[in-house]
Amino acid sequence: MSALQRRPRCWAVIPAAGRGERMSAGIPKQYLRLAGATVIEHALHPFVEHPDIAAVVVALSADDVHWAQLKIAAHGDELVRVVGGAQRMHSVSNGLEALISRADDDDWVLVHDAARPCLTRADLDRLMGALRADPVGGLLALPLSDTIKRSDADGRIAATIDRRGLWAAQTPQMFRFATLRRALAAALSRGDVLTDEAAAIEALGFVPRLVEGPAANVKVTRGEDLALAEAILAGQISQGGRAMVQRVGMGYDVHAFTSGDHVMLGGVRVPHDQGVRAHSDGDVIIHALCDALLGAAGLGDIGQHFPDSDARWRGASSRMFLQEVMSLLARDGYRVVNADVTLVAEAPRLGAHRQTIRQTLAELLRADAAAVNVKATTQEGLGALGRREGLAAQAIVTIARPSAGG
Ligand code: CTP
Ligand code: MG
Repeated sequence: MSALQRRPRCWAVIPAAGRGERMSAGIPKQYLRLAGATVIEHALHPFVEHPDIAAVVVALSADDVHWAQLKIAAHGDELVRVVGGAQRMHSVSNGLEALISRADDDDWVLVHDAARPCLTRADLDRLMGALRADPVGGLLALPLSDTIKRSDADGRIAATIDRRGLWAAQTPQMFRFATLRRALAAALSRGDVLTDEAAAIEALGFVPRLVEGPAANVKVTRGEDLALAEAILAGQISQGGRAMVQRVGMGYDVHAFTSGDHVMLGGVRVPHDQGVRAHSDGDVIIHALCDALLGAAGLGDIGQHFPDSDARWRGASSRMFLQEVMSLLARDGYRVVNADVTLVAEAPRLGAHRQTIRQTLAELLRADAAAVNVKATTQEGLGALGRREGLAAQAIVTIARPSAGG
């Protein structure tokens, strides 16, 4: 097929050989965890999953010990690893070299910082759509909205800059393979230190296009940026802006009645003419929920995490179990999509307590009350529960996490 008939392909290069000195987190910032995966896994995800991106090259530092531990490292042929260089532009240049035998001159290369974890597939598609027919290429960028000052050496204002026409350059930056190679080679031979690809392209006399990017496409640079990126990801997750993995789990628990004056149901004290026999506070609703959550996350069951043999849990509030289970899930990046619980008991009646239980569970599950349903049924007098010998609960939950991180 001639070059004229062929549609240019797209490749991605992810420079990830930086040390994150401004973050000073002890490890390079691209390996810090947020929303259940590392920064770099979130950054890579839209590229690795994209059907129009032929392969993704990651440039890692020569002494990188973190990459091999990521699930994404086993991704296969379409994720190519190269050694990065002293500066970002060296790393990008090494990434391009890895494509020489595969990419054609007019193919597109998308360069994206490993430290930008919040790029969505929709933003990537918008950039690719805006530039596909462009003669030069361009980048996502954000028009500046703050008043801009230049400082003097003493930290005082030397000038106020007219912000009209000023943009902050983001990534991805998308240029033709041969042009980008030539531009970086020229910049490297001049000894320029450039912090983006567009600057090298401009130096060749080309005029890259600015495509307005979202403010959410932040680069994790300093300590506070991590919490910001985490909040942005959480928002994207709840609005369906990121590819998610959803899992479902079920749980069941039963306790026998004994003498007492109340039962704990969904974290709420419900007066009753009996109590329950249990090692902890015997809250069947919370126990069923814990098992459903652990089941959905593939983390075993409540007995493994809080064994009866452990004196720490004697008389323990089941709220603690649920809090602990939620921390385990949060570590894997899971959030609760919805939970539905059923109390099976002839008595007590849930009626008056239903809303309080719902609210209590919603808080424990870090979810909206609308995502939590609490219902009850009797056993119609049948069997042990029907004879009022005890009470039981069933729970079913859906949990979700971003699909980055495998
Ligand atoms: N990068 C790279 N090779 C380098 C330097 C940086 O591949 N020699 C990558 C970083 O890993 C990051 C991107 O370029 O994904 C943007 O760079 P920056 O935000 O400056 O990251 P760091 O250089 O790691 O951070 P710092 O400047 O604070 O040390
Ligand atoms: Mg840097």
